[in-house]
Parts: sequence; structure tokens; C-alpha cells
Amino acid sequence: MTAPPARRLLLVGGGGGLLGREVLRQFLPDHRVRSVHRHIAPGEGPEVEWVAADVAGPVDWPRLLRGVDVVVTLAWYRWAAPARFRALGDGLLRLLAAARTASVARFVHISVPAAPPELETGLPYLAEKRRFDAALLDSGLSVRIVRPTMLFGEGDRLLGVMLRLMHRFPVFPMFGDGAYHVSPIAVADVARILWLEAASDRTGTIDAGGPERFRYRDLTDEMYRRLGKRPRYLPLGPRGSVALGRVVQSVGSDLLYAYEVRWLLSDRLGLDPYPGLDRPLARVGPYLAEQAARWRRGETPPAPASARG
Ligand SMILES: NC(=O)c1ccc[n+]([C@@H]2O[C@H](COP(=O)([O-])OP(=O)(O)OC[C@H]3O[C@@H](n4cnc5c(N)ncnc54)[C@H](OP(=O)(O)O)[C@@H]3O)[C@@H](O)[C@H]2O)c1
Repeated sequence: MTAPPARRLLLVGGGGGLLGREVLRQFLPDHRVRSVHRHIAPGEGPEVEWVAADVAGPVDWPRLLRGVDVVVTLAWYRWAAPARFRALGDGLLRLLAAARTASVARFVHISVPAAPPELETGLPYLAEKRRFDAALLDSGLSVRIVRPTMLFGEGDRLLGVMLRLMHRFPVFPMFGDGAYHVSPIAVADVARILWLEAASDRTGTIDAGGPERFRYRDLTDEMYRRLGKRPRYLPLGPRGSVALGRVVQSVGSDLLYAYEVRWLLSDRLGLDPYPGLDRPLARVGPYLAEQAARWRRGETPPAPASARG
């Protein structure tokens, strides 16, 4: 008996990003991957057809969609000038129009969880994302939007960075009372969720949290414990916390952005566990233990690729 032909995946936002690397690992065994993004990604071997393109610019989507069974979109910026979000949003809408013309069988998109209303509408990062989310849901295609909370995994931008700061500096900022919640989800689990969702016929939007919901301060205490250090916090009120985010971003650092602090403080990131994984969702403890052990041995775990925008 011959195996069924591999499905063709159009991956928009490539295998070089935090999530994209895991998406490749997850999809390559049973998909032929055409990967659209701007910079060379060392993890994309000859088995991946890389198409160098900026989604925000002119792209021949009808050609790239030829023979494609499923589209997965990951491309977004963490922080950028407002016009760049609009251009990327417009580019994704051009992709969507071409996908409708081509009657693509399945479209899976990564978005982000609900944020405070003033960010949802006032922050181009979110407003543009929602513009595309809404158009996708309205497109008539078989669409699934997955909205994970904060991701953890090698080279992540949150927990890994927090461990680094706790290891290197005498104090760590505590935003507000630390009583809000987070439910980190493993990058590899999100990649598998996308793979499962690509093969399913479920439609609409699903939020995806990890298996445990932590009070933020309990998680930071635990991180200090893993590093073998006593927690030492610099207490900041909510306004001071957002102000710190503004200062950090104003000096050009991508460590932390003010909107991320506001989002965290709004207590909307402790999402329920994703219900449909075919294995237990990974807990964050082993990841923290492994990363902290490397710091304790004097090694430096890989830092996140800085935002290249
Ligand atoms: N990280 C998290 O905690 C988290 C949580 C929830 C949702 N998400 C969402 O998950 C998605 C992936 O996040 P990530 O953390 O993996 O991001 P990432 O590491 O920054 O990767 C983003 C990818 O998008 C590509 N890209 C960006 N702008 C592009 C453009 N104009 N044209 C073509 N490709 C472009 C980049 O490749 P090139 O540079 O090669 O173009 C990169 O591979 C994003 O949509 C993000 O909003 C992330």
C-alpha cells in the first residue's frame, strides 16, 4: 500500500521564529512545507521550500498558494512602528483574499488572548491583529484561530529572560501586587495544537493556556528557588510598572514593553488549559529547572533572537 501524499503547508512567518522552529519540527514529517518569511532561518533545511518575502510588501500569493492544502500564519512583530503593523495587516488580508479565490481547504492562524479594551482598540499591535482575525472569521473559509498565552521554550522572551535577569541582578521588579495570573504554555505544545487544528474541521477561535495557572508572584518565587536564590523584589505600583516598561522600550531594548506590563497587570493571561491535546500539556517546572541549572553551572542558555522587525 502506498502512503497518502504529504499535504502541502504554506507557513507564513517562517521557521526562524520561536514558534516557527517547533512548527517545522511538528509538520515536516507529514507535510511538504513552503515557508514565507524575510530572513534566512538556519533550521530550515533543503526539505523546506523557503520563499524570501516580506508579507507586508508585494507577494505573489496566487502562485504561492498553488497546490496548498493548509495555510498557517505566524508572522507578527512584537513591537514596531504603527505603520508597520498596518502594512503587515494589509499584507495578510491580501493573502486571505488569494486564499479565498483558491478555496484553500484549511486556514489556521495564531493570534493573542484578550487584552484590556484600551489596548485592543488603541494599540496598533492589537488593533491590526484583530482586524485580520475578524476578516478571517468572516471569510467563509474553514478557519481556526488559536490564541495562546505566553509561550515558554528554549530562547523564549519571557520566562527565560526573567531567569536571566534574576540570575544577573540583585533585584527583580515586581509589577503591582503580583496577585494576577499566568498559565504558560510550551512552544512545542502550541506547535502540536496547530498541527491538530490543521487536521481538524473545528472552526472559530480557541484560547490556549498551559496546564497550570500560577499567581505571578508564586511563579517568580519558584524561579528564584530554582536558581538557588532568595527572592528580592523591587516593588513597583501599577503606574510605576508601566513607566518602567516605557523607559526600557524608549532606550531601544526589547526586554519589556509597556503594553506587556499593562496586559499582565490586567489579569487576562491565566487562560484555561487547551482542552484538545493528545498528550498532557507540558508543565513549566522541568523547563525552569533545566534553564536554572544551566545558569547555576555558569552556562548561558540561548537568548531570544532580538526583534528584527
Ligand atoms: N511568543 C509568545 O509568547 C506568543 C504568545 C501568543 C501569541 N504569539 C504569536 O505567535 C506568533 C509567533 O510568535 P513568535 O514568538 O514565534 O515570534 P517570532 O519569534 O518573532 O517570529 C515571528 C516570525 O514572523 C516572521 N515575520 C515577521 N514579520 C514578517 C514579515 N513582515 N514578513 C514575513 N515574515 C515575517 C519572522 O521571520 P523573518 O524575520 O524571517 O521574516 C519570524 O519567523 C506571532 O503571531 C505572535 O503574536 C506569541
